[in-house]
Amino acid sequence: MYWVYYLKERTFVMIKPDGVSRGLVGEIISRFEHKGFKIKALKMFKFTREKAEEFYAEHKGKHFFDKLIEFITSGPVVAMILEGDNAVETVRIMIGPTDGRRAPPGTIRGDYALDVTANVIHAADSKEKAEREIKIVFDKSEILE
Ligand code: RTP
Ligand code: MG
Repeated sequence: MYWVYYLKERTFVMIKPDGVSRGLVGEIISRFEHKGFKIKALKMFKFTREKAEEFYAEHKGKHFFDKLIEFITSGPVVAMILEGDNAVETVRIMIGPTDGRRAPPGTIRGDYALDVTANVIHAADSKEKAEREIKIVFDKSEILE
C-alpha cells in the first residue's frame, strides 16, 4: 500500500459546444482521470451572450471575437475544475495548441479538432486565469473542498 501525494493546484477546463455535440465528453474526461487529476466540480450549461463576453473579455476587439462568441453560445458546454500537481501547465500540454490543424496527435485538439475556432476544449493558461474563470462559472457551493 502506498500513497500518492500531489500538490493541490487547480485549473479550469471546459469542453466546448463542438466537443459536447460530437459526443466527446466521456472520452475527454477519461483522459484527465487516467492522467491522475481529481474532478473537484463538474457541470453542463449554456452560456448567455453576456456571460460569454465576460468569460472571453481578454479577446474583445480581436478579429475572431464575434465568431468565438457565436460559437461558444451555440450549444451546451461542460465545465470542470481539475486538481493535481502542476495542473495548469500539464492540462495545457494535454489539450495542445489552439489550431487543431497544427496540434500534434496525442493531444486532445490534435486527436479531435480540425479547426481553430471549433477546437473542442478550453483550459486556463495561468493560475490567476483559472481562479478568474472558476469564479465566473461556478458558485462556491458547487465546488468540493
Ligand atoms: P482557449 O482559451 O479556448 O483554451 O484557447 P487558447 O488559449 O489556445 O487560445 P486563445 O488565444 O485564448 O483563443 C481563445 C479561443 O478563441 C478561438 N480563436 N479563434 N484565429 C482565430 O480564428 C481564432 N483564434 C482563437 C479559439 O476557439 C480559441 O480556443
Ligand atoms: Mg486562451
